[in-house]
Amino acid sequence: TTPLRLGIAGLGTVGVGVVKIVEEHGALLSARTGRAIEVSAVSARTRDRDRGVDLSGYTWEDDPVALAKRDDVDLFVELMGGSDGPAKAATEAALALGKPVVTANKAMIAIHGQALAELAEANDAPLRFEAAVAGGIPCVKALTEGLAGNVITRISGVMNGTCNYILTRMESSGLPYAEVFKEADALGYLEADPTLDVGGIDAGHKLAILSAIAFGSRVDFEGVQLQGIERVSIDDIHRARDMGYRIKLLGEARRTEAGIEQSMRPTLVPADSPLGQLEGGTNMVVIEGDAVGQIVMRGAGAGEGPTASAVMADVADIARGLTIAPFGQPAATLTPAIRANAATQCAW
Ligand code: HSE
Repeated sequence: TTPLRLGIAGLGTVGVGVVKIVEEHGALLSARTGRAIEVSAVSARTRDRDRGVDLSGYTWEDDPVALAKRDDVDLFVELMGGSDGPAKAATEAALALGKPVVTANKAMIAIHGQALAELAEANDAPLRFEAAVAGGIPCVKALTEGLAGNVITRISGVMNGTCNYILTRMESSGLPYAEVFKEADALGYLEADPTLDVGGIDAGHKLAILSAIAFGSRVDFEGVQLQGIERVSIDDIHRARDMGYRIKLLGEARRTEAGIEQSMRPTLVPADSPLGQLEGGTNMVVIEGDAVGQIVMRGAGAGEGPTASAVMADVADIARGLTIAPFGQPAATLTPAIRANAATQCAW
């Protein structure tokens, strides 16, 4: 068999993690998939930065669209981020040529997922985005593959590690939101636009993606009732603690008689529950299915290794020739999302 040649656009933390896994686990990946996987060409905003990996063996392309179209790129790996702009243009260019795309781009999939899935399917090109939701936790695959025999009744969880870090650190240190926000910034936890994190938008993107797969409906980010953590005060946290609760930025998606409820907002959870005990930058995804009951998955929602792990799982699926529709069923069969209002659970 011929090797599967990757073109990687975006060489930040995740891109570097992917290069490392391809280089270090070549034999393992080829044993598992039956095909050699190699990096062929790369692209990033800055060429000369020291990234701690040797990229000299790979062709450099300045333009990600040109990278996606290269003849020696069989699979386009989009790790640039941003819902529009070069990430979307290059993804569309690859799909239009019938090339598989693997992306970690939650904003792009949450906003343009339906159109991209339609484009992918029209061109028989796989489009996979395990890394877009909850970093290393394989929750997309759990829904599309592992739980395919279930009616999914509810998805919930903590899907933004930065907010979870801020909320747990406020409680442990007694410092106010503004101070802990500065700490998180100094630690490099915040997205380039921090509102994406603390405004709940990033977590809302992830919930909307899972909800679409779970309920067979078109991804509907606008339908997520969204509230960030900016107004959670240290007094709120102390009062919650005194009552045996913790405040988490909790996402919940349910199918009801009235339609699909999606919410992402600060919520009281019992301190002794699995969600209540979730510390630091960790994520937790809870899935409930009629046959399986409840499944809880916990792990790193961000970072080099965990996010690259999820990217490589998609790459491996494609190397194996697995064909799964982006949202688990053909895009044309996804129903328009009918929104229902989720009951308010908290006072913020
Ligand atoms: N800003 C995100 C988080 C990164 O804190 O969870 C992973 O999507």
